Amino acid sequence: RKYKVAVVGATGAVGETMLSILAERGFPVGELVALASERSAGGMVAFGDDEVMVRDLAGFDPAGVDIALFSAGGAISKEYAPKFAAAGAVVIDNSSAFRLDPDVPLVVAEVNPEMVKQRPRGIIANPNCSTMQMVVALAPIHRRAGIERINVATYQSVSGAGRLALEELGRQTASLLSFQGAEPERFPVQIAFNLIPHIDEFMDNGYTREEMKLVWETRRILGDERIQVNPTAVRVPVFYGHAEALHIETREKLTAGEARALLEAAPGVEVVDERAPGGYPTPVTHASGRDAVFVGRIREDLSHPRGLDLWVVADNIRKGAALNAVQIAELVAGEG
Ligand code: A2P
Repeated sequence: RKYKVAVVGATGAVGETMLSILAERGFPVGELVALASERSAGGMVAFGDDEVMVRDLAGFDPAGVDIALFSAGGAISKEYAPKFAAAGAVVIDNSSAFRLDPDVPLVVAEVNPEMVKQRPRGIIANPNCSTMQMVVALAPIHRRAGIERINVATYQSVSGAGRLALEELGRQTASLLSFQGAEPERFPVQIAFNLIPHIDEFMDNGYTREEMKLVWETRRILGDERIQVNPTAVRVPVFYGHAEALHIETREKLTAGEARALLEAAPGVEVVDERAPGGYPTPVTHASGRDAVFVGRIREDLSHPRGLDLWVVADNIRKGAALNAVQIAELVAGEG
């Protein structure tokens, strides 16, 4: 059977990758509908070897859509996802709009695929990119040894902030290299040659919302409210690929060798850990354009008897967003 698939936000950084991954993986698409704002309606987007005309979401009738992949921001999802679901579509939503809704499963294909079936609202949520790659790496460790606490510092590329953010890093870099100024637009301060410890809005507790997503979403996906998560999320001047320094404390002692063996057997994980120059994953050398979550620098924490340190890198647009959404679509299609 073939499916009528809609991609909402098809002109965005994640949307265009959803289209290419659907084509790459041979998802059984009967008809593909590319939707965006009226600004880009009438333009074309690539879908495999074809091109598809972009249509205006506001004027589109969702009747007949089987599966809708949303990545046009939380406000658009809040307004349109329930309409698509009411019209009979299964909505897979990449925004944060429904991630904490108890009637919307929050699914990582390698970690809790069985949850896709529990979708009373007809909506399935795709986790935040930073949480996604972290739980792919931590799920096998949690299952074996129980994770008590996670200290995490993220190093997040600009593509996570969308197409305009990618352009801003390019523009500022070129401008500064030709001795011109770099006016911030999308980011609060200059991002080129800089680091910004601020992603999404500030919360009352002093953390940012991006950091709290790591707390809330990790507990939901791993199904364990006891896990303590202490995050710092930082935007770095990298185009594609997020990295994370993870410092975890397990309930039972796990050696670095045991952790490595678990990770080598884990679905969706690739271990790159040679303890030699270049023998570790980086966004540019390993993650960008690839599907796996790469793990390196696996070692026992000098300062804690049940501590482990890991360096986790993945393509935030692929595994962090578009790929996992398509994997969820495959799980839905697999239901028959
Ligand atoms: P458009 O290109 O027409 O603005 P990114 O995260 O890379 O910035 O992409 C955001 C995506 O969400 C784009 O495809 C964008 O379409 C889409 N989008 C933004 N606002 C709307 C809207 N009001 N209606 C439909 N799509 C929207």
